[in-house]
Amino acid sequence: MEITPSGQACGATIAGLDLSKPLDDTTIADIRAAWLEHHVLAFPDQQLADDDLERFTLAFGPFGEDPFIAPIPGREHIIAVKREADEQAPLFAENWHTDWSFQEHPPAGTCLYGITIPPTGGDTLYANQHASLEAMPAELRSKIEGKQAIHSAKNAYSPDGTYGEADRAKGRSMDIRPSSDAEATQLHPIIRQHPETGREGLYSCIGYIAGIEGMEQDEALALLMELYQWQTRDEFVYRHQWEPNMLVMWDNRSVLHRATGGYEGHARLLHRTTIGSQPA
Ligand code: SIN
Repeated sequence: MEITPSGQACGATIAGLDLSKPLDDTTIADIRAAWLEHHVLAFPDQQLADDDLERFTLAFGPFGEDPFIAPIPGREHIIAVKREADEQAPLFAENWHTDWSFQEHPPAGTCLYGITIPPTGGDTLYANQHASLEAMPAELRSKIEGKQAIHSAKNAYSPDGTYGEADRAKGRSMDIRPSSDAEATQLHPIIRQHPETGREGLYSCIGYIAGIEGMEQDEALALLMELYQWQTRDEFVYRHQWEPNMLVMWDNRSVLHRATGGYEGHARLLHRTTIGSQPA
């Protein structure tokens, strides 16, 4: 297994493995160590069926729970991230976020396998939240130290949200199912130790954070915006360029991510699974 760091704020490419075959325990441990170090791993040139994607995911934890997006037919744990060539709906996942941070036990990681990749555009951006915390000015850090963020999927997946009833009318090809369940809230510390490495990082961002516990809403939103500007500075970002048959796994506990456009007139299709949090 050959690891080539991206040279950017996080991310590495792994060569020398065939993920269409079951992996032995040593290889799984080596991949996990690389994942914890680089936070985003790309495995190019992999011919993966959905069974292979599921087996790879389960090597790193249980499946996570994926709300609000229907799985692909015949699979409980795979969703399609897709866009038709002529689709007019706004891009999916264009805002910075970390997956499902509004859950009590959010997923440790996400796996995304590129099937139809446009010739240009459609990069995924990742922002390293350990680096972002470590470089943070003391004054900003003092404002968030010890604070709990109120996470919610409301702005995205409630019937009035970005992917709510109005969005369904725009002809989105992804099978998104908005629900009032999205209004539930969940607290997580803004500064958090990574459960496996113990390294401190910022967890999630205003994409799924609706307020700060014990703080007036105006003050909380202003602070969350200030934080967001810091968290997503260019120096913390890795720009990932896709190829067909490439698998990427990222660590939701360490990075934010967002989709980008720039591929109008071309279709894009990826299959996605989530790696649940490790049992305590
Ligand atoms: C996602 O957030 O799962 C999708 C990212 C992308 O489409 O680039």
